[in-house]
Amino acid sequence: METNLSVSGLAVRLSGKTILSDVTFAARPGKVCTIVGPNGSGKSTLLKAITGEAGYDGDVSLNARPLDRYAPRELAEVRAVLPQHTQLSFPLTVKEVVRLGLQNAPLQMADVRDRIGAALERVDMAGFEGRAYQSLSGGEQQRVQLARVLCQVWEPRNGDLPRWLILDEPISSLDIRHQVLIMDVARDFADRGGGVLCVLHDLNLTAMYSDQVLVMKKGRLLADGKVEDVYNDDLISEAFDFPLRIGALPGPAMPFLLPQAARKTL
Ligand SMILES: Nc1ncnc2c1ncn2[C@@H]1O[C@H](COP(=O)(O)OP(=O)(O)OP(=O)(O)O)[C@@H](O)[C@H]1O
Ligand SMILES: [Mg+2]
Repeated sequence: METNLSVSGLAVRLSGKTILSDVTFAARPGKVCTIVGPNGSGKSTLLKAITGEAGYDGDVSLNARPLDRYAPRELAEVRAVLPQHTQLSFPLTVKEVVRLGLQNAPLQMADVRDRIGAALERVDMAGFEGRAYQSLSGGEQQRVQLARVLCQVWEPRNGDLPRWLILDEPISSLDIRHQVLIMDVARDFADRGGGVLCVLHDLNLTAMYSDQVLVMKKGRLLADGKVEDVYNDDLISEAFDFPLRIGALPGPAMPFLLPQAARKTL
């Protein structure tokens, strides 16, 4: 059975405006699929359609089952979502925020506590359980939200079926060590048979971690392929309306981008 996250002919209109059109791709379990593209190109809207938060035309299916045939509780078991922005309207501790990811989990109290502790450890937030979430720094809050999401899909496989991590800019507030730590968590989730679909702005970390890169521009998919297929000067420069040059490090092929390298004066 096909166990992809697949999107076909997707279109989204909001407030009478076409935000996404004709988006078709499949993300696969065991792989990290990254969406890149300029601000406003529709990356978050695409994730919102896939998670059922935004209405759409076209087809979205998870593990060969159309999204609209899942009950909310079933969806919560198969995929966890980190939105680009998370607002908490009431005061919660770190532990309480992470526990939100376990609302539907059939776990004993002690297992809940262990899972929360393990998830916080994964994101380097061990020992913060009792802290007021609002008192954390931006990057600390982001890592706690990631712990919540990880808790929800702790095991990347549910029998024969993959679970999915859907992450909208999971490392946008993180320092470089924690960026790598969190991308390692995503990689590990995929290596253990889950699927990862994430949005990133860092094109170097995208090159380092992605099996598949989707490039969005103005609500459409400009490219879909492996890093080596997508990372060429013309395509990336066109995507961002900005001159960019791809370099290559000696040794194992790993493309990198230095924005200043494209400036004519250098
Ligand atoms: N509810 C809405 N009504 C009208 N336009 C909207 C609505 N939501 C989003 N948009 C517009 O849709 C476009 C895509 O927004 P989206 O949030 O998907 O971009 P993005 O690629 O995630 O950008 P960023 O990198 O800044 O997060 C933007 O131009 C945005 O202003
Ligand atoms: Mg966005």
